[in-house]
Amino acid sequence: MYKIENLSFKYEKDKYALKDINMDFSKGDIIGVIGENGCGKSTLFMNMTGILKPNSGEIRYNDEKIKYGKKDLYNLRKKVGIVFQDPEKQIFYSKVYDDIAFTMRNIGMNEEDIKKRVEKALEAVNGSEFIDKPVQFLSYGQKKRVAIASVIAMQNETVLLDEPTSGLDPRSTDAVVDIIKNMKKNGTKVVISSHDMDLIYEICDYVYVMNKGEIIKAGNPDDVFMDEKMIKNAGLKTPWIIKIYNELKNNELKNGETKEETNLKTIKTKFAQYK
Ligand SMILES: Nc1ncnc2c1ncn2[C@@H]1O[C@H](COP(=O)(O)OP(=O)(O)OP(=O)(O)O)[C@@H](O)[C@H]1O
Ligand SMILES: [Mg+2]
Repeated sequence: MYKIENLSFKYEKDKYALKDINMDFSKGDIIGVIGENGCGKSTLFMNMTGILKPNSGEIRYNDEKIKYGKKDLYNLRKKVGIVFQDPEKQIFYSKVYDDIAFTMRNIGMNEEDIKKRVEKALEAVNGSEFIDKPVQFLSYGQKKRVAIASVIAMQNETVLLDEPTSGLDPRSTDAVVDIIKNMKKNGTKVVISSHDMDLIYEICDYVYVMNKGEIIKAGNPDDVFMDEKMIKNAGLKTPWIIKIYNELKNNELKNGETKEETNLKTIKTKFAQYK
């Protein structure tokens, strides 16, 4: 698993895009990375996959410092899949089938197994109907789903998802949530960045909050999102379940009564149907 120590990265001289980042991804099964536009989430993911190289600090995967030779990166990418924020970065302008098959062919899998995996992965993203289409004819959301399918098909041990649901319609968003939950069930480690705080709160079991290239808070989702002041300072929003909880709690305080059922767990169960 990933462990990051004192990572700093600059695109330009004198301007840190990431500053002294420390992260331990063994803290959860689905780890959220949140923060406003430009705080460094995508830069972090690109450092984790060796696309960008830190100016200082260390990134370790399974206790080994990541290396940047062609073979080293090839081996890392067999274990770690990434869905880029921009699907254009991921696709090769071939047919959808070949696009998803590309990396599997590269590692020498037989075509019969590849076919099964491609079909299953497309099914998971509601995309079976575009298996034979050229990728350039797909809409943004469809391309995004193909990019996610490519990572599902690889069955990596770790998957980095950089805003996987941005631009997706509600049905496809739900499908992606199911995919992530299934990944967790199958023992795949997921790291996800998103601007959808309700989604992060629902699926993550550990969350890092970034602000201007630094980590300003880390912890379980309840601890992180209960810190309303910090969430506001980071330019983020409180998930609606926590808002309801806070509202009920405040009313109780006003009325001088405390009800046993006003706890987060009960509220999550009670309101789950309205998701
Ligand atoms: N290729 C680049 N050259 C120079 N600066 C860059 C480059 N890419 C990103 N940056 C800068 O680095 C900082 C972090 O950008 P990054 O894309 O990692 O943010 P982000 O958290 O992913 O934002 P978003 O929520 O918009 O996706 C920003 O200030 C951005 O302007
Ligand atoms: Mg980004």
